[in-house]
Amino acid sequence: VFSHIVQAPEDPILGVTVAYNKDQSPVKLNLGVGAYRTEEGKPLVLNVVRKAERLLVDDNSRVKEYLPITGLADFNKLSAKLIFGANSPAISENRVATVQCLSGTGSLKVGASFLGRHYHEKIIYIPLPTWGNHPKVFTIAGLSVKSYRYYNPSTRGLDFQGLLEDLGNAPNGAIVLLHACAHNPTGVDPTPHQWDQIRQLMRSKALLPFFDSAYQGFASGSLDADADAVRKFVADGGECLAAQSYAKNMGLYGERVGALSIVCKSADVAARVESQLKLVIRPMYSSPPIHGASIVATILKNEEMYREWTVELKAMADRIILMRQQLFYALKDKGTPGDWSHIVKQIGMFTFTGLNSKQVEFMAKEYHIYMTSDGRISMAGLSSKTVPHLTDAIHAAVSN
Ligand code: LMR
Repeated sequence: VFSHIVQAPEDPILGVTVAYNKDQSPVKLNLGVGAYRTEEGKPLVLNVVRKAERLLVDDNSRVKEYLPITGLADFNKLSAKLIFGANSPAISENRVATVQCLSGTGSLKVGASFLGRHYHEKIIYIPLPTWGNHPKVFTIAGLSVKSYRYYNPSTRGLDFQGLLEDLGNAPNGAIVLLHACAHNPTGVDPTPHQWDQIRQLMRSKALLPFFDSAYQGFASGSLDADADAVRKFVADGGECLAAQSYAKNMGLYGERVGALSIVCKSADVAARVESQLKLVIRPMYSSPPIHGASIVATILKNEEMYREWTVELKAMADRIILMRQQLFYALKDKGTPGDWSHIVKQIGMFTFTGLNSKQVEFMAKEYHIYMTSDGRISMAGLSSKTVPHLTDAIHAAVSN
């Protein structure tokens, strides 16, 4: 009965790792998936995470009972506080419904399904380009996906006029997906002033903001600064959704830990929204896993561990910034044709190099360097030792 099934293509991002794993070359380099690596090219478990895990293991009062459908209560409260700020009126007024979800994707999925069922406007605008999984998550939830201009390839910066025009032409009430910071894949974010203009336009047309916050702390090294755009949208009293991931900023990739928050007009609405989120979650995966959320809650509620986390987070962000500088100067010193200043201007985990799919293919074949076909490289996968190899490869690719 399954013989008609056709082979599906690999995922455009995770498939890069599959190709990389098959490569036998000792100099191979994976700059595809956004996963932090140390200067030695190794995955990193934060010290503070190890510490939290030891505390959890030693605590004999801990059991393995099911969590509630909405997840770990402490984790939800602390996650809302992390993104909206400790003094957020939305939190003190109990207007936020937060549920623990399976990392960023799971949070987007639960939010999308909720909107598909309960929100009156089924159109969502996503930036062009955006993370490859976004359109898939929203389409499956029954939303109609449209895009708004975001990136201008000729300036390698924000197409702000295009963005304002497209959102200005969107139907009133449409949902708009916004990257809270460190836009993936372009590394291009609006300035604070541009965020204000976007917010004013969106509020004037009752467009519903849905923030994807996968990199809080990674863009600037500051958890507060990277939540600024979201907090401004909450400060004006309007509604919004926010999907949070702890994959990158706590290095909890495989633990799949994240949260969806829906900021509502009143505590009463938030309680009803939460009751409906439970109806979305229960038939999907019943309730979320306990371990990752317990690690996060342990760290967020302990002042000293929180401080330790911010130091380790800043160190990761700084190493990425250093890699940007090293790559930029290496290309400059080599006289590689083109203006590479966008490498140091873009922020977050990725550089949108401007390399085309043919050049990407060439670099994989000739230099064993892997990246997504749109020319995005994960700066976190790079080290001082591998910068020269990447520089040679880019030089050869653009000189071809
Ligand atoms: C990425 O964009 O590389 C990350 O967000 C990982 C993923 O799941 O795609």
